[in-house]
Formats: sequence, C-alpha cells, structure tokens
Amino acid sequence: MAVEFSPEARKRFAAIVGGYPKKEAALLPVLFLAQEEFGYLSGEAIDYVAKIMGISAARVYSVVTFYTMLNMKPIGRHHIQVCRTLPCALSGAEKITAFIKAKLGIDVGQTTPDGKFTLSEVECLASCGTGPMMQVNDAYYENLTEERVVEILRVLK
Ligand code: FES
Repeated sequence: MAVEFSPEARKRFAAIVGGYPKKEAALLPVLFLAQEEFGYLSGEAIDYVAKIMGISAARVYSVVTFYTMLNMKPIGRHHIQVCRTLPCALSGAEKITAFIKAKLGIDVGQTTPDGKFTLSEVECLASCGTGPMMQVNDAYYENLTEERVVEILRVLK
C-alpha cells in the first residue's frame, strides 16, 4: 500500500523543511513526523520520505536504524524504553527490565498480544542521576523500583 502524508502533515512537512538551511538537515524531524503520521516507519514510509526529501532510501534507512526512538515495525500504545547504559545499569536497570518482562510476559523487542505495551532497551536518556529509569512514550519515570513499575503499568493499562 502506498503511503502519503495527509494535507495537514504536508503543511507540517513544509514548515519543518523551511526551518533548515538545507533540506537534508530536516531529516530527523521529518522522520518523527512520518512516524506520527504512519504509526511506524515501514519500507514504504522510508521510500516515501526519501522521495520527498530528495535523498536515497539507503540514507534514510541508515538514520532510521541508528535511532532507537524510530520504529520500523508497529509498536504498542505504550512504548516502554528502559535505559540500559552504565549509570542506570549500575542502579539496577537489568532487574527492572527482567521484572517488566515477567510482568508483561514479553521479551525486549516484543509487543503484548493486546497491543498495549512494547518493551525496548535503549541507551542513555540523559537522566543518569535518577536511574534506573524508563521512558514511556513521551514521559520519564525515574528512580524505579518494582513497586513503582507495578503502579505505572496499572495506571497505563
Ligand atoms: S545512563 Fe540511564 S539515563 Fe543516562
């Protein structure tokens, strides 16, 4: 199925690109717009972005695969991203990830069958002093304990 921006997204695309001296410099915000518009960045979405940006699909693909916040497959309504970088690892991130895996019955990289949660491990989210921490969609949850995770998941359900 061919993907294409809605008229509203096209306006936002023009505004984003207009804010940069070179079109290619707008690639990352354009990819976020595409992800918002299409839900995730499929091969078709990558081809579409390459076309409207006037660059190769390989270049777009290299950016999409570099950033963990860009998703190439459908994700759950709540995208749980647990930081696994050293400061968070030292404060117990691995234990928190294991707890979430057991609680949701999924592995890292998987989505619950009801489509509510996707679990990812990511690199530093710039909240190193408050680990272990995770980002769920746009919100940060810090100083995590198993009890806090239970409460967070309960509220998100
Ligand atoms: S190491 Fe986890 S937020 Fe920086």
